[in-house]
Amino acid sequence: MIIALDGPAASGKGTLSKRIAAHYGLHSLDTGLLYRAVALSLLDRRLKLHDVWAAVALARTLDTARLDDPDLRRADVGEGASVVAKIPEVRAALLAYQRWFAGQSPGAVLDGRDIATVVCPNADVKIFVTATPEARAKRRHLEYQSRGLEMTEAEVLELILARDARDSGRADAPLKQDGGAILLDTTELDIDAAFDVAVGEIKRKIGR
Ligand code: CDP
Repeated sequence: MIIALDGPAASGKGTLSKRIAAHYGLHSLDTGLLYRAVALSLLDRRLKLHDVWAAVALARTLDTARLDDPDLRRADVGEGASVVAKIPEVRAALLAYQRWFAGQSPGAVLDGRDIATVVCPNADVKIFVTATPEARAKRRHLEYQSRGLEMTEAEVLELILARDARDSGRADAPLKQDGGAILLDTTELDIDAAFDVAVGEIKRKIGR
């Protein structure tokens, strides 16, 4: 069984994805971490995020055992991720791993931007998780505050809007709702309520 969760930054898809995976006993992959890992490798080596050759080389040799590095959650790494994610060869290099991951038994939940549209078009369940930019900025701001990051909510909102534009506007695998996906708007929902809606949709599709 494959469950695809897509959506913009800080929509709640990451938390939801892990909860669904735990509930059904499935593997879970936050695919944003792959793009973040490429960006972090470039930043660590003081290379430019637009250095296509280096970005592709790093994507091809990515160590997927190191996706728990807390530095991957940094704000600058998230921004960098959306810059390298525009490079088609980077996306192509990360595709095989994502498809391998999705094919594991007994199944997997993958969250990202292009899971339903490109990585797993045959996913059993497709959910597009979204929320207003203001609600997402509020959540991300709280997350940053809990990690001691100095940024105002208005600054976080500005970053979110810029990232939405970059992710939706790119030519290769842009952020968009797949035709077969249901829309889950979490603006007014807490994680428990969002989880209930998601499980309802999964039950409707696969009967459990
Ligand atoms: O956690 P957050 O929602 O802020 O972002 P993320 O899921 O970690 O993704 C970081 C960036 O990677 C996104 O802004 C996208 O540009 C890119 N990404 C992508 O292009 N395709 C994916 N499947 C996942 C992430």
